[in-house]
Amino acid sequence: MCGIVGYVGNKQAYPILIKGLQRLEYRGYDSAGIAILNGVLNVYKRKGKVSELESFVKSKDVDGRIGIAHTRWATHGEPTDENAHPHSSQSKDLSIIHNGIIENYDVLRNELINRGYEFHSDTDTEVLIYLIEDIKKNEKVDLGEAIRIALNQVVGAYAIVVISKDEPDRLIAAKKGSPLVIGIGDDDFYIASDATPIVEYTKNVVYLDDEEVAYIQKGEKLKIKTIKNKDKTPYVTKLEMNLSQLEKGGFEHFMLKEIYEQPRSIRDSLRGRLNADKGIVSLGGIIDYEQKMVNANRIIIIACGTSWHAGLVGEYLFEDLARTPVEVEYASEFRYRNPVIYEDDIVIAISQSGETADTLAAIELAKSKGATIIGICNVVGSSIARATDAGSYTHAGPEIGVASTKAFTAQVTILCLMALRIAQLKGTLSKSRFRQILYELESIPEKVEKTLQVSKKVIEISEQYQNVRNFLYLGRGYNFPVALEGALKLKEISYIHAEGYPAAEMKHGPIALIDEEMPVVFIAPNRGIYEKVISNIQEVKARKGKVIAIVTEGDESVRKLADHVIEIPETEELLVPLLATIPLQKLSYHIAVMRGCNVDQPRNLAKSVTVE
Ligand code: F6R
Repeated sequence: MCGIVGYVGNKQAYPILIKGLQRLEYRGYDSAGIAILNGVLNVYKRKGKVSELESFVKSKDVDGRIGIAHTRWATHGEPTDENAHPHSSQSKDLSIIHNGIIENYDVLRNELINRGYEFHSDTDTEVLIYLIEDIKKNEKVDLGEAIRIALNQVVGAYAIVVISKDEPDRLIAAKKGSPLVIGIGDDDFYIASDATPIVEYTKNVVYLDDEEVAYIQKGEKLKIKTIKNKDKTPYVTKLEMNLSQLEKGGFEHFMLKEIYEQPRSIRDSLRGRLNADKGIVSLGGIIDYEQKMVNANRIIIIACGTSWHAGLVGEYLFEDLARTPVEVEYASEFRYRNPVIYEDDIVIAISQSGETADTLAAIELAKSKGATIIGICNVVGSSIARATDAGSYTHAGPEIGVASTKAFTAQVTILCLMALRIAQLKGTLSKSRFRQILYELESIPEKVEKTLQVSKKVIEISEQYQNVRNFLYLGRGYNFPVALEGALKLKEISYIHAEGYPAAEMKHGPIALIDEEMPVVFIAPNRGIYEKVISNIQEVKARKGKVIAIVTEGDESVRKLADHVIEIPETEELLVPLLATIPLQKLSYHIAVMRGCNVDQPRNLAKSVTVE
């Protein structure tokens, strides 16, 4: 949450910073601000989106070749002009941008108030910049040293960049728990929460590690120290993403673009990892840990939100194919509930962003108990990817829309490959069955392409139900997580209340909600316990509920009962989630657009949840 950008070099900083903020707006968008140095340190900030900041600074002085900028997702203090970043020190000589939470800010704030400081915002960040200035003044150290000393007093998470009126060529950055990347140009430096604002200018980047401080001086080599004052050698890596991946490519919204990218993203997730003709499934990233996975008595999957739904599909896959018991845990619960973790446990952590604070903390907990951690991440070089013992990237490409779409199907694809590989090694599937699934998995991108053609039907349904207040999503077996995911997609972008349930659980409570106003989405392919799902549909119809059913092409039984059917191609039961999710993503997208919602940036949400 919160996006931070910094620049120092020979170019004008403002266009680089504003463009960077636009790229990072998915991380938070309730206020934005910028500080540019050109003799004077000009700080401009505004409640609202980056576009409001742009209008605000139109007639202002934004000249300068060094600056910092921030887009905020509020934690401490409401979204107001005062609480927007950058925050300035008492003397106004220093300014800071911060992503994270200073947990002991209250103690530090009271100490500073006792020493005569006056605060102007409700944020924890202002405390940090006051503390830095106080140390600089009283301990007579330079800015870099003051920051290093201050960070030793801070409890919590931070990615910060500090600019000083007295240092026209230098920025200082540091991180713990929140991400920070430094791009190294020919004669300039770019700093950001992720690589998206940087890729346009340079592919050479350094990912800071926790408790590292970077001294970024124009015309000099990047210097890094830990907050304990140990020198570190910057490790430069090459970015793989390209600029076109970060643009809308003719689509009205990133979310729609990302929905349509799924044939490609699933293909990329499978590329080089699956060969049905030769009967090969191979995930290079976990090869050294395969035997541990084979020997594990259980797998624990940890994740949040949509990634947790993918984890639930993973539970069905591992138990079904590899016969390994699986527990799926919300990372936020797992980390605080004193779970039993054994040294031979395999923990699979799933995260699109690779930065989710709860997932990271759950990983650290499991690591401390000796478990082996396997990651499934989308963002290369992210904190979670680096915290795991091994793992597989999803290769879905940057996901910009706040609602996760292509990342989910890519995660399910990887889980499927992992479960198949472990099943192969354990010998829990016959050779012919194994091959059969491999061939079917290979054909999935093409079937996703076909599934994407359901637009007309989905738009008709969206028109009819765009104004309802509630939705119910029901599915069984592999399609229960799909129901959860469908409901989450609808509520997060259209603000319609929606619940996902296992279809048979309906009669234990939610059935009371059903009347002629209530649309019920059934995921009802002709696989698994199909007849039982038909009975559940009948129960809804008997109470005059409106049934929207996702069915297998050519299905006649459900068609007779349902008010609307959306067809998906025939496939293996275990692969249905990869297809059935697509029309549900489109349904939520079209309903949200019809309701005039901001699809790519829904209210109160952020793409990367780096606070717990
Ligand atoms: C929903 C959504 C969130 C994320 C969750 C975990 O569309 O995007 O529920 O899935 O915040 O994020 P990652 O996968 O980045 O750990």
